[in-house]
Amino acid sequence: MNRVNGVRKGVSQPVAALYGTAAVPGDKSASHRALMLGGLAVGETRIEGLLEGEDVLRTAAAMRAMGCEVETLGSGAWRVVGVGVGGLAEPEDVLDMGNAGTAARLLMGVLAGHNMTVFLTGDASLRSRPMARVSTPLQMMGAQFITREAGRLPLAIVGAADPVPIEYRLPVPSAQVKSAILLAGLSAPGETTVIEPEATRDHTERMLCHFGATVRTETAEDGAGRITLVGQPELAATDIVVPRDISSAAFPIVAGLITNEASISLPCVGLNPHRSGLLVTLREMGAKIEETNARDVAGEPVADLVVTSGPLSGVTVPAARAPSMIDEYPILAVAAAFAEGDTRMCGLGELRVKESDRLATVRDGLVANGVDVTIEGDDLIVRGRPGAVPGGGVVEARHDHRIAMSFLVMGVGTADPVGVDDMSPIDTSFPGFLLLMNELGAS
Ligand code: S3P
Repeated sequence: MNRVNGVRKGVSQPVAALYGTAAVPGDKSASHRALMLGGLAVGETRIEGLLEGEDVLRTAAAMRAMGCEVETLGSGAWRVVGVGVGGLAEPEDVLDMGNAGTAARLLMGVLAGHNMTVFLTGDASLRSRPMARVSTPLQMMGAQFITREAGRLPLAIVGAADPVPIEYRLPVPSAQVKSAILLAGLSAPGETTVIEPEATRDHTERMLCHFGATVRTETAEDGAGRITLVGQPELAATDIVVPRDISSAAFPIVAGLITNEASISLPCVGLNPHRSGLLVTLREMGAKIEETNARDVAGEPVADLVVTSGPLSGVTVPAARAPSMIDEYPILAVAAAFAEGDTRMCGLGELRVKESDRLATVRDGLVANGVDVTIEGDDLIVRGRPGAVPGGGVVEARHDHRIAMSFLVMGVGTADPVGVDDMSPIDTSFPGFLLLMNELGAS
């Protein structure tokens, strides 16, 4: 590993075997939400298993800057003393959300229900991402925004004095947009309803109920989901156990599948059905992933997983599955390079507006490592060559943690090592990634 001006280059060497236990960090989506809802509840919330990655620490700092007590008790245990719905104080300075799109968008929802002025910014990646998808419905609820072109950060938000509940049909399948509206709806009288034609992760709904809010989920006549929050609840502080992140587990899982010999155990992985599309897809490809000890923690399903190496075959992944594995396409594309035949991943337009343009970064990374890959419209097609994936390239991470991790994983199974130009983004979601992978036998 080389470090130059904060940029950390990395190289992953091919290895023969991977064995051991991969205790991946806490779920990023649940961690942001636990800190925000803990801050909006009355009293002291204890959180266990919080992801202590840079993205989540930004949320912790923002909640603190607005008057909540937020402190670490060590080893993933945190204490949050909330101020109640509507009780946040205007922060004295700009809130810098770093790389964290979830933090920025969900906080916009929280802030829309607080009548104060807040300035938000982020790193180069976050400043390039679309925010109008969030500010548009929040304006309908009474918040005002001044933004850069196309709603981009930095932006200023003046929260509504009298927030108005709305009924809003999501134009894009986005849990972040849904969550921002529901969080703003906490401050509005009456019922706020979000209609989602395609189901997205429902951590906000589950956690709101865990804090004592009333949220109803129904199916509309056209099959869309209708999620309704009863506004102005008193959220009661509670205890939360954050499951381990399926999106982080994806990396050791695929590493195990593409290595000649592997058996990797992953305890207590969150298996929310709106998050676990990768497991469905990998099993369709022939992957051996066992699931035991299924249980619920703090309103979320979890289980222990064991993955063993074995041959994979190419499949077509339907567009309808995209919301349930939206963050996992980079690592699935890596798995597809090692599968027999073609894998077609359909309907990936949303990947263009993630931490990087993931359709382009994945294609460029695969091409740099000798893989046959094309983009057709919004579909990504990877032509696999089991046992004969060349490697030998250096991949541009483009501020994207999942790109850096996906290609380091690729290097465990290629003929030649795979380089990544900057591993520093990995700390946003998976601090300890290198150590965990190396303890399994990666290099
Ligand atoms: C997230 C939702 C997804 C996902 C992101 C986390 C969340 O984004 O890509 O990493 O926690 O709600 P979109 O809602 O924009 O699809």
